[in-house]
Amino acid sequence: MARQAIAVMASGRGTNLAAILEAATQGKCPVDVRVVISNKADAPALRIARDAGVETILFLNPKDYQNRTDYDLACADVIEKAGCQWVVLAGYMRILSSAFVQRFKHRLINIHPALLPAFIGADGVGDALRYGAKVAGCTVHLVDEEVDSGPILAQVSVPVLDSDTRESLHARIQKEEYKLYPETLRRMVEQGFSLDGRRVIWNQSI
Ligand code: GRF
Repeated sequence: MARQAIAVMASGRGTNLAAILEAATQGKCPVDVRVVISNKADAPALRIARDAGVETILFLNPKDYQNRTDYDLACADVIEKAGCQWVVLAGYMRILSSAFVQRFKHRLINIHPALLPAFIGADGVGDALRYGAKVAGCTVHLVDEEVDSGPILAQVSVPVLDSDTRESLHARIQKEEYKLYPETLRRMVEQGFSLDGRRVIWNQSI
């Protein structure tokens, strides 16, 4: 199965990006991370991309654009020019404009550190802990125009322990993210899926 080119958008540490790059190198995930874009100049994700030899690495400053749509379309142009089939959000902390979401419809995915539809938003881990949930986890999903609301591709649960802090719970969730994100990308490339309403139906493996 030929590798498919992807773009990763990241605002922060980039540990999910690192996990995807590592899985790709090990032959566990048939993707070629061709573009990495960040909206933060000092995002460690940019250094991870550089160290891995990603072809196109870009910091685009939102302040240089008139509005959200202009910024997103500049990102979209770079991604399309590089021939990326998928856009993978990995800790990308900006809301995407409708124009961007439409342009990559069903090809734009995100990972969220909670079991959706519970605990959407910027602090899914803290919200689950404060709520008193006994099970937390992570969700890989298609991105639509609402926050953390697109069809679910894959989920994994982890227990919440009485001794947990936000940090310890997030660390336990992230360990699962590093397996779930590359594995879901692999299935997207090798297996494919269709949509039945909101339900993602994975194609039968051949
Ligand atoms: C992850 O926990 C992911 O679920 C959320 O943001 C975090 C990004 O972490 N969307 P990293 O930058 O990949 O380390």
